[in-house]
Amino acid sequence: MVDLEKIISLCKRRGFIFQGSEQYCGLQGTWDYGPLGVELKNNVKRAWWRRVVYERDDMEGLDTSILMNRLVMKYSGHEDTFSDPMVDCRKCKKRFRADHIDANEKCAEGDKHDFTEPRPFNLMFKTVVGPVADESNVSYLRPETAQGIFINFKNVLDSTNRKLPFGIAQIGKSYRNEITPRNFIFRVREFEQMEIEFFVMPGDDEEWHKKWVDARYNWYVELGIKPENLRKYEQAKEELAHYAKATVDLLYRFFPDRADEDKQYDEVEGISNRTDFDLTCHTKGGKLVLNDGREIPNTHAINKLTYFDHKTNKHLLPYVIEPSAGVDRATLAFLMDSYCEETVNDSTRVVLKLNPELAPIKVAVLPLKKNNENIRNTALKVKNELMKKSGWRTVYDDTAGIGKLYRRQDEIGTPYCVTVDFDTLEDNSVTVRDRDTMAQERVKIEELQTYLSQKLGNV
Ligand code: GAP
Repeated sequence: MVDLEKIISLCKRRGFIFQGSEQYCGLQGTWDYGPLGVELKNNVKRAWWRRVVYERDDMEGLDTSILMNRLVMKYSGHEDTFSDPMVDCRKCKKRFRADHIDANEKCAEGDKHDFTEPRPFNLMFKTVVGPVADESNVSYLRPETAQGIFINFKNVLDSTNRKLPFGIAQIGKSYRNEITPRNFIFRVREFEQMEIEFFVMPGDDEEWHKKWVDARYNWYVELGIKPENLRKYEQAKEELAHYAKATVDLLYRFFPDRADEDKQYDEVEGISNRTDFDLTCHTKGGKLVLNDGREIPNTHAINKLTYFDHKTNKHLLPYVIEPSAGVDRATLAFLMDSYCEETVNDSTRVVLKLNPELAPIKVAVLPLKKNNENIRNTALKVKNELMKKSGWRTVYDDTAGIGKLYRRQDEIGTPYCVTVDFDTLEDNSVTVRDRDTMAQERVKIEELQTYLSQKLGNV
């Protein structure tokens, strides 16, 4: 299996992902998506939205603000508890996450680090809203998209007349001042999440939790992740967050180089049964229960976030199942899982065998001879018409010989190349080459879109 270093190099070379602020030597924990990266990431998000919103009858979408009233983070518990234990080395002055310390790592100032006792470090980025920089104007860049969904529960319920069970999906940026961002886009300070809050009747929660674990696992596998690289990990009681009744993490094999097999796998998504914890925190007259048992009554919220159950004629707080995925981690998993090296005619062919739905470019149209005006113009016409009729990201490239052009498209995962040659000018047909099999077929230009539609499927 490919290691992270090869993926980082491919991403930089071909324009998937660049170091953030590279022009000024970078900003740690930030990455910029390039021309191909933005297409891939958008396709990951679209594939998620399609499966969890469009293809279901029990979901709505939402897009809430990154900046929220500070009280949202007070009553969600983030102000008090969204922290990691952190230690400082007294010798080299570096800061580490206490639970990420590598016992073998040497200190730059001597043999061993000399660590302080762990202390909590809040991961939220603080900012001020408006021109006056005082405590009353403090807000945060949201550390998760979930809270925007909880505080809009009643708005969505009232405006859609939904009945339980139903869910709300949201995709958006989240920010965490991670102590040790690392491993490329795996742990960063600015990232995107795809989150669902699925509201159910208390008592139905365990069944829905199982259904969502399966649905989310299947999503990755249907889009190409090999089952042997994806694990379901059920958190033990002592690992659970204090508000969670159960959590199953989906772990992808991000670190195949690690000697300990269990350490090769890390979280791409978590699916939690959060009971009625969040709606209880934010509802009028509700309360936040902190992990040390302290209770903070909610004296600010203006609406009850309850659901009226017509069967019992009672208002109740629904339970919630939360499948929460990272867009960047999912994108990395799809890149790693699709990467292949094959030997063809004594040379190495690098191919991204991405599912066509995720491939940044669906079709590349290539002229066999770029200095033949008829061939070039026909190729450009084929490209433009295909693009216009199908809406697929289609490109034209004439910057190298045909062999090299094929290899370049293989390396970025383009499922089909269409070549315009001398025969095209006579018979109005083109050669279509399949990325994975390298098989070539002659197709009439007027049948090209139908032919490719059948091959590409629902992209
Ligand atoms: N609302 C629940 C929640 O935010 P989480 O486990 O903290 O749960 C969910 O985050 C997902 O977000 C993770 O599984 C991961 O894919 C992604 N994620 C979290 N922190 C991240 C970071 N610093 N960099 C990249 N992705 C991150």
